[in-house]
Amino acid sequence: VTTERSYHWSDIPHLAQRTLWSLRKPAPDANDQAWLLSLLTPVEAVLYRSMDQVDQSHALVCARAVQSLGDEVAVASALHDVGKNQAGLGTPGRVLASLAGLLIADLARRWDSASGLRGQIGRYLDHPELGAAALRRAGASDLAVAWAREHHWPPGQHTIDPDLVAALLDADE
Ligand SMILES: [Fe+2]
Ligand SMILES: [Fe+2]
Repeated sequence: VTTERSYHWSDIPHLAQRTLWSLRKPAPDANDQAWLLSLLTPVEAVLYRSMDQVDQSHALVCARAVQSLGDEVAVASALHDVGKNQAGLGTPGRVLASLAGLLIADLARRWDSASGLRGQIGRYLDHPELGAAALRRAGASDLAVAWAREHHWPPGQHTIDPDLVAALLDADE
């Protein structure tokens, strides 16, 4: 059983929507950010601040969407894409990476340590594992580590409670 996956064709509408959202360069909301930072440990806050503006905005939306489920869930929701900072790709590069994930996923996933754009694409596609490792090093909760690793996994494979997965996936729209 493999739980690995990059992107699937069925993700295209979502990817297109996220690309349009990214191109508007949404700035993180100051109130939301102050709230999230009050929940993060200092090391987690360093990770949050290492993200691009667009990823910070996404983190805040994802955290607010599950706020009613408690602080631990909100933090896990916020930090799930933290591994994207290791690719250093802007919006056009991310579109390219997503296409590589659709067309040549097995090849592109092996580009992690390559130099230049290939390495960036490989690390972008590997952002769940890279993020999970960074969160583990930062001493984040088991839930935060698991959700970072599992947030692109296919339905039915998660180690996290299914109701919680559903809420976290909903937040990641
Ligand atoms: Fe992701
Ligand atoms: Fe996300």
